[in-house]
Amino acid sequence: MKLNASNVDLEYDESEKMLYSDGVEVPFSTRKVGEMKDVLFRPDFINEKNKNDIIYRMFRNAGVSKNQTIFDAHNIRYDVTSIEDYDLGGEFTKTLGHYHPIVENGLAYPEIYEVLFGEAVYLLQKKNENGSYEVILVHAKKGDKVIMPPNYGHISINIGGSVLIEANLVNSTFTSDYQSIKNMHGGAVYVLRKDNMVVNKEYKDVSIAHQDAKTPEFLDQAKGLYDEYISQPKHFVFLNRPEFLLWSHDRWDISSQHF
Ligand SMILES: [Fe+2]
Repeated sequence: MKLNASNVDLEYDESEKMLYSDGVEVPFSTRKVGEMKDVLFRPDFINEKNKNDIIYRMFRNAGVSKNQTIFDAHNIRYDVTSIEDYDLGGEFTKTLGHYHPIVENGLAYPEIYEVLFGEAVYLLQKKNENGSYEVILVHAKKGDKVIMPPNYGHISINIGGSVLIEANLVNSTFTSDYQSIKNMHGGAVYVLRKDNMVVNKEYKDVSIAHQDAKTPEFLDQAKGLYDEYISQPKHFVFLNRPEFLLWSHDRWDISSQHF
């Protein structure tokens, strides 16, 4: 299938599970069932037979070389991730989850995602000063763009019953923190296939909000993140300067995901 980009030809082959950029294979890394043992609702689901099953593929810097100068100018990378529809011991397939480091004034690097195919729930979570946790579950469909706000850990969950293909734009210079979520045995909520959720007992005092994704008003719903970035990199200054979400976009409201 063709992915939403016109400045580069990105095609995902569903049978090969490969991504091609202008006809050339994009290298990828994988995440296997066995690597998820610290973050699952039912870690005992992992066994010798399934531990090497691949549940998602990460195509880092997909198509970036075609427009390397403009990506390098702002230390931004564009990645594509394909997440299988795999029953993870009763959970929907999800990513490990991570936090980003602080970049300025106590604010961590934000990130922006786009659903290229399928349907996602983005689990955003933040620990408050009093030790309680705020969780936002953002339901996103093809074409939706969702900001991972500064200081929120985030997990992508494939709820669509098919492969989920998502893209992200993010600063290319930092290393994410995966250990904090592993130490807590996963995110604050486990989203189960049988239409229910379970709060992870490691987290105390969890508040949960549900939202439908709303593409930020400075972006075009129809245009993909790759093309948006190439044509208007200044719209993405906030990826390096999270304070821009609070100043220039001071109307930005995490609870409603828009400006
Ligand atoms: Fe991230």
